[in-house]
This record gives sequence, C-alpha cells and structure tokens, in this order.
Amino acid sequence: MNIILLGPPGAGKGTQAQRLEQERGMVQLSTGDMLRAAVAAKSEVGLKAKAVMDAGELVSDEIVTGILSDRLDQDDVRRGFILDGYPRTDVQAKSLDHLLEQKGMKLDYVIELAVDEDALVDRITGRFSCASCGEGYHDRYKQPKVEGRCDICGSEAFKRRPDDNAETVRTRLAEYRAKTAPILPHYEPIGIVRKVDGMAPMAEVGTAIKGILDGR
Ligand code: AP5
Repeated sequence: MNIILLGPPGAGKGTQAQRLEQERGMVQLSTGDMLRAAVAAKSEVGLKAKAVMDAGELVSDEIVTGILSDRLDQDDVRRGFILDGYPRTDVQAKSLDHLLEQKGMKLDYVIELAVDEDALVDRITGRFSCASCGEGYHDRYKQPKVEGRCDICGSEAFKRRPDDNAETVRTRLAEYRAKTAPILPHYEPIGIVRKVDGMAPMAEVGTAIKGILDGR
C-alpha cells in the first residue's frame, strides 16, 4: 500500500509515518529528512537547499523531485511507502503522477491530517529528536520514558531542527496555505482522499489511519 500523508508543518506526518514503519513495515519517504541528510553531507543539493530550508521556504521542485525519484528506485519501497512532505506544490503532484506511472506504482490513499494552526507553533517549537536513531519527542506531549535517554536506542544525545523556531514556522505555514493545501483537489476526483482529525492524541490519530488502511 502506498500513501501520502498531507498536512501543515507539525501536523504529525513524521510521527504517524514512524508508527506505520514500525507497525506495518512500510517505508517512510520524508523529503525533509532527505534534504537534511544532504545538508549534513554538504552535498551540492544540500548546499543549495540549506538557506531555503532555514528560511522556511520551499526548495525547488526540480531538486526535490530528483531526490525522490532516486529514492523510489530502491527496492525497499516495494514493501509500500508513506510519502511525508511530498508533493508540496501542484508541479510536484503532477511530477509524482508521472514518476509513479513510469515506475509501475500507484497511490492508494492521500490522508489529510487536519489541525488547528494555533496548535502547530507549540508542537513544532517543543519538538526534539534522538541524534542517533531519529526517534521524535516533544517537551510536553512525548518525553523519553527515562529522562535524557532515547526509548528506542538508549542514546543520551538529542537535537532540535534549525527551522523549528516561531518565526520560521510562520513562513512554513504560509507556504503550506499558498502552495500545498491547494493540491488536494488534484486527488479528489479519483476518490482516494481521506481526512483524519490531527488534533486528537497521537495514538487516536494512528488508530484512525490504521482504520483507513484496513478498509474500515
Ligand atoms: P519537512 O521536514 O517536511 O517539515 P514539515 O512539513 O514542516 O513538517 P514537520 O516535520 O515540521 O511536521 P510533521 O507534520 O512531520 O510533524 P511531527 O510528526 O514531527 O520539511 C522541512 C523543510 O524542507 C521545508 O520547510 C522545505 O524547506 C523543505 N522541503 C521538504 N520537502 C519539500 C518539498 N517536497 N518541496 C520543497 N521543499 C521541501 O510532529 C510535530 C510535533 O508535534 C512532534 O514533537 C510530535 O511529537 C508532536 N505531535 C505529533 N502529533 C501529535 C498529536 N496528535 N498531539 C500532540 N502532539 C503531537
């Protein structure tokens, strides 16, 4: 099964994608993570993307579609994938149609996480993750079970994203409203869009998504 998780910054796309990876063996394809890896590696793509990401703006369609296309060529995606953060523009939605057709794949669902924008700044500015395995946490909503130690790998090193500050979040939200939310109608005619209440607790959001994937 191949799905898109669509929603504004902080809606819970990464959180739910990680759950689906752990529970169903699907593969999370986060273009944000791919770009951050390129920035960390100081590759050509990373050098171009860094300033744009730090400002909360969107990296060019060409760059992002290029890295996604390469990732879709790897064998593990055949287990089923979760697109987290792509497509984000009308051009990307059309490019994705083309890529999937070329690679003999199809989308089963586009799951929209609907959230109240006021909650997002709080969610994003409180977010941190394990520097070793990437497990996500939050200052208030999801702390490690043992303080200062990752639940998954036991590492004691955590990190925060440079674009997770209140000012950049506002730019990211504006980008979402202007360029990403308008792509939903691209998928409505084919009847694969489902809406989930992203304001519910994380486990409930997960149960709702599971229900959709299980056809309930
Ligand atoms: P990206 O990495 O994709 O970030 P984003 O879309 O801004 O989304 P986030 O990762 O911030 O949020 P999320 O929805 O995953 O929320 P999370 O689960 O972490 O993109 C970063 C940048 O890369 C972009 O700005 C752009 O520059 C570039 N980029 C990436 N893709 C691109 C593309 N396709 N085209 C162009 N540029 C691109 O949850 C947030 C917090 O809330 C967590 O702490 C979590 O614990 C908590 N939380 C989650 N769910 C709940 C809940 N139900 N209740 C309470 N707390 C919750």
